[in-house]
Amino acid sequence: MSEQTTYEFHVAAQGDVLEQYITARGRNTFIMGPIGSGKTYGSAMRVFDQMCEQAPNSFGVRKSRFVAVRNTYPDLKGTTIKDWCDLYHNEDCQLGKFNQDFPPTHYLDFDLEDGTRVKAELVFLALDRPDAVRKLRGLQVTGFWLNEVKELSKAIVDMCDGRHGRYPSAAEGGPSWHGMIGDTNAPDDDHWYYELAEESHPEGWLFLRQPGGVIEVTVGKGEHAVTKWIANPNAENLANLPDGYYINQVQGKADDWIKINLANQYGTVATGQPIYKGQWNDVLHINNNKLLPIKSHGDLLIGFDFGRTPAAIIGHLTPLGKLRVLREYVSENMGVRSFMDFLVPELKREFPAYSKADMQAFCDPSGWGKSGNDENSPIEIINMEYGITAYATTSNKPENRWEAVRFFLTKKIDNQCAFEMSADCKTLRKGFNGGYQLRRIQVAGDARYTSVADKNKYSHPHDALQYLAQGAQGEVDYERTEQLRQTSEQTAAADSLTGY
Ligand SMILES: Nc1ncnc2c1ncn2[C@@H]1O[C@H](COP(=O)(O)OP(=O)(O)OP(=O)(O)O)[C@@H](O)[C@H]1O
Ligand SMILES: [Mg+2]
Repeated sequence: MSEQTTYEFHVAAQGDVLEQYITARGRNTFIMGPIGSGKTYGSAMRVFDQMCEQAPNSFGVRKSRFVAVRNTYPDLKGTTIKDWCDLYHNEDCQLGKFNQDFPPTHYLDFDLEDGTRVKAELVFLALDRPDAVRKLRGLQVTGFWLNEVKELSKAIVDMCDGRHGRYPSAAEGGPSWHGMIGDTNAPDDDHWYYELAEESHPEGWLFLRQPGGVIEVTVGKGEHAVTKWIANPNAENLANLPDGYYINQVQGKADDWIKINLANQYGTVATGQPIYKGQWNDVLHINNNKLLPIKSHGDLLIGFDFGRTPAAIIGHLTPLGKLRVLREYVSENMGVRSFMDFLVPELKREFPAYSKADMQAFCDPSGWGKSGNDENSPIEIINMEYGITAYATTSNKPENRWEAVRFFLTKKIDNQCAFEMSADCKTLRKGFNGGYQLRRIQVAGDARYTSVADKNKYSHPHDALQYLAQGAQGEVDYERTEQLRQTSEQTAAADSLTGY
């Protein structure tokens, strides 16, 4: 062995989520965080740790080859390589040679205290287009580090996922770990990253989310309520950032920018004013598990929205008054009966412990109105044809309905949110994150918005949720439904007497 120096490292993770990111050893691990939250340093630290962890071959050498991927060379040179070198290739810590030629590669070569030797490579590659496969050809790789993942196309990520684990060769014992790691700022909610992290949850992929550097709060009530950003004391890497790093950047920035870059929230392509802005918190209100109702807590509650795009939201109320939103059912171009024909068996399958007698539905009061020459109105159809007790709520004014949802969003019970929604409710969630919005009115000067919600694919399930929230608070017209049920029971009794 040539002359080598042994180095000691004292680089510690700067927060719980970073720590999890650095120590996870599953196949694929990704971290999403605000700017400056230590993501890139965390990735570099993990790559280095894993180089040292690779099991030594019969000569006591720990061999591995990692590829750091970015979408362009200027980005690789300007940030990724620079950050890596800050940690592992500066004047006082020469761990091997750095070759700046194409592709830039750090050949690490150093001894560990246990007498083994690390011989590892970190190759820096810009993979900007799917045809980048050429650049990877012939390169046997242990693992990939995808820096700023959201800038990479899904095709590139898929390609990388199929090309790790080939180094060192099986003859040398193979890699003791192989996979991908990646760091990113929050993407938009129509990005492939969102789909994997929040919706499809593929096996073997861990998606971690750091706390935001700022959080949005509402001050004041009713008409005087305003939202503002405040510093989040639980943000990570604060010790390495200047005082007030995040909150100072809020000044002069557009909300969309703050949301993504500082608050670590998913962006949305919506252009209007999100209706639950300041009240909705994606991290606090979403539960990533498929929530199930608790039978002893009472009936299943269903919020309905009719029209040509019927929607139903299923939830229940805990004894302490927390609203748990379990499932959403949305449809397109369907009448009430076809929707019910689909929904009733679905409910039976999903919630077998509940019979129709254990369900209560809440609807728009205009659901009493008959349409065309149908002999029954939607509320009558649900009660009489499908046997589920359905009530109208006391008001369908947008402000009242929004208030019913805000009540749960902002209330705390034993220091916990009084609103919990299953990540299964994908449309509601995207709506909460901005898709359900007041439309911007195209006038010069200050931004102005319509006073009613934009009718779009998010608004129907959101309307249904509002009726559910009103129902859960008892803002319900019980009388008219009771009358209907009595009349229909009397009619049925009379029919049976007269032999019909
Ligand atoms: N473990 C650490 N020890 C010491 N300093 C650190 C550590 N982690 C991060 N830093 C410091 O914090 C700064 C920001 O970290 P880093 O570049 O990793 O953040 P980032 O989340 O990748 O930011 P961006 O979103 O801007 O890429 C670094 O430049 C470095 O100065
Ligand atoms: Mg970074």
